[in-house]
Order: sequence, then C-alpha cells, then structure tokens
Amino acid sequence: MAVTSRAGAMRREGVDVVSFGAGEPDFPTPDLIRAAAYKAIDEGKTKYATPASGVLPLKEAVVRKLRRENELEYDAANEVIVTVGGKEALFLAFASLLDPGDEVIIPAPYWVSYPEQVKLCDGVPVYVNGMPDQGFKISPEQLEAAITPRTKAVVFNSPSNPGGFAYTPEETEKLSHVLEESEIVVFSDEMYDRLLYGGRTYKSYASCSEHARRHTITFNAGSKTYAMTGWRIGYAAAPREIISAMAKVQTQTTSGTSTFAQYALAAALDADQSIVDEFRKEFERRAVHIHKRLSSIDGVRCFEPQGAFYIFPDVSGTFDRVRVSNSIEFASKLLEEAHVAVVPGAAFGMDSGIRLSFATSMEQIDTGLDRMEQFLT
Ligand SMILES: Cc1ncc(COP(=O)(O)O)c(C=O)c1O
Repeated sequence: MAVTSRAGAMRREGVDVVSFGAGEPDFPTPDLIRAAAYKAIDEGKTKYATPASGVLPLKEAVVRKLRRENELEYDAANEVIVTVGGKEALFLAFASLLDPGDEVIIPAPYWVSYPEQVKLCDGVPVYVNGMPDQGFKISPEQLEAAITPRTKAVVFNSPSNPGGFAYTPEETEKLSHVLEESEIVVFSDEMYDRLLYGGRTYKSYASCSEHARRHTITFNAGSKTYAMTGWRIGYAAAPREIISAMAKVQTQTTSGTSTFAQYALAAALDADQSIVDEFRKEFERRAVHIHKRLSSIDGVRCFEPQGAFYIFPDVSGTFDRVRVSNSIEFASKLLEEAHVAVVPGAAFGMDSGIRLSFATSMEQIDTGLDRMEQFLT
C-alpha cells in the first residue's frame, strides 16, 4: 500500500508510473453480481445482518461452493462465518485462538498481514523460509522442525501471495501428515483457489483427512475470485467451537459485513463459474508472458506463476549493478528512476525478491517491463 500511495503521489505530479503494486483484479465486478446487490437493496436488505455472522442464504451458498469445489462438508448454520473481507476472518481467528506467547508458523515469503495480526493478538510469528529452488514452497521436514510445544497454529497459503506458487495435492497431503497427531490449527488461506494455471488441480488442506478437517480453518472471499475487493466480503469454515468463538469477537467489533453484499456474494457462488474462468485465462496468459520476459533479464531469476496473480523474481543478482543493497532500495530506485512500482520482498520477509502483480493490462505489463529492462542493463 505504501508503494501504491507513493506511485499515486507521483502520478498526481504528472509522472507516468506503471504500477505492478496492486493486489486486486483489474476487472470490474461481473454484472450478475452487481445486479444481485441492486436487487437486494431494492428488497430492503439494508438492515443489520442477522445473525451478525452472516445471513443463512449466503452461508448455504458457501457450503455448496465448498462441497462442489473443495470436497468439504460443513453445516451452514454453525460452521461458517461471513466477514469483512478475508482479512477480518483471519483476524477473528487469531483473536479467538491465540493466548499470549503462542507461536504461529508462517512460511516466508508471506502475505504482509499474517505476522502483524499475530502480533496484535500477542502471538509470536515463527518464520520458515520457503526453498528458493522449489519456488519458495516449504517441505514437510521444514514444517516439522519449526514445531515447538508453544506452536498453536500454522498458516498455509496456496496459491500464494506473494510467491505465485501453488502446492500440488500430493504436497498438501504430505504437509498434513506432519500435523496428523497434533492439536495445531491450520489456517488455510484459499483466497486464490480458483486462480490456478497450467491445468493444475487444487486440494483444500482440510480435505486431506478427518483430522485435518477438525483442525483447519478454511478462509476465502469474493475479493480475488469475483473481483469484489471493495465490497469487503469474505468467509471462513471450521468446526463449530472455532466459528462460535470468532462470531463472539465479531459481534463486539464489526457486527459483520454489509447485508446486501452478502446476497451479491451468494449469487456469485451459485452462478455459472465461467465468469471466473474468463479471469483465470487472462491471468494465465499474462503469467506466461511476464515470466518469459522477466527471466530473460540478466541477473533475474524466477519461477513461472502457478496460481494467484503475482510473480516473485529474485533480483538480488542485480543489486551490485543497480548499486543498492536490499529490496527496499531496489524498489525505491526503480520507482524514482524508471517510474515502475513494485513491492519490495522485505515486506514479505524475503529480501532477495520483489513482487510484481500482473493484475494490470498486457500493454502496461509490456511498458513496465521495457522500463525495467532498461533500468537493469
Ligand atoms: C493471501 C491473502 N489473504 C487474505 C487477503 C485479504 O483479502 P480481503 O481483501 O478479502 O480482505 C489477501 C488480499 O490481498 C491475500 O492476498
């Protein structure tokens, strides 16, 4: 957000900045979702949602989605909560579960809010660095080694923001075997589960076993799948005790998200999912293109994105040439001199890289990469 705001300030001064900073789809929310919101408003669905944890029609649509796409069964009334974006769901879960000093294992590079939310709830983030030669995924051995008697939770985010990697179903299962005997709760952040490339298939962590289902909170939202970032609507599914604790915190803080947005997300989840497929195909086309161009630059190493809409190249091989010593200096210099906005890897706990979002047009991608190429040669 800091990068986006500096880029915005430069734009206001008349500078033509190409931004790879955005963490949101560049498409408008599809018509049928907007129409469902107008209809809900016209029908007077503008009061507090009851219960605050979300209206039943949406919870039922979430249950159908999880059954259809994730091989998961939940009880709509007791095992689903509707939240102010995926972000609130994650925060409510940390707030409900963590006691002071509890450790939460967070694979790096990570989405920026995990450690901050853990710290706000008096927990202690424990980082596990993803393996660079595996596109930054972590191995079961690494997970095992990070567990201590204070470990309360593990964050599992696939497809990853910022890494752009996605665990295969086999890899997800192997990680689940490590936790099969423990009471550790897995936070499975599945915001990008519909944005997978190269014909990959998805496996939800909670679907790995009955034990996993009992120890997992599955998080998702309308934000990335349906281009609904500004609607602020997300959800989580988990065993009843966890959802009920999260709902208690929610009633004393936000009272949940806006009622008509809930009907709009229900319409999205129940719609013909070809709307998502169109987004997915366009993101995949961009993923292939951006990878090809970035990896042809001397000193830049990167994996082709497997999911989400981010690529996370290792640019540390260019630091000497650019005369910088870390990713923050790299990103500032790139913005000031080449007018290209990227997010420094330091924000995600991996200083060798930068994150580029390709949720921007192909034309902007090419202009930005032309400038980066010039900057780096
Ligand atoms: C991995 C991940 N989790 C959660 C979120 C939060 O999503 P929302 O906008 O629905 O709060 C984001 C958004 O950037 C994300 O990338």
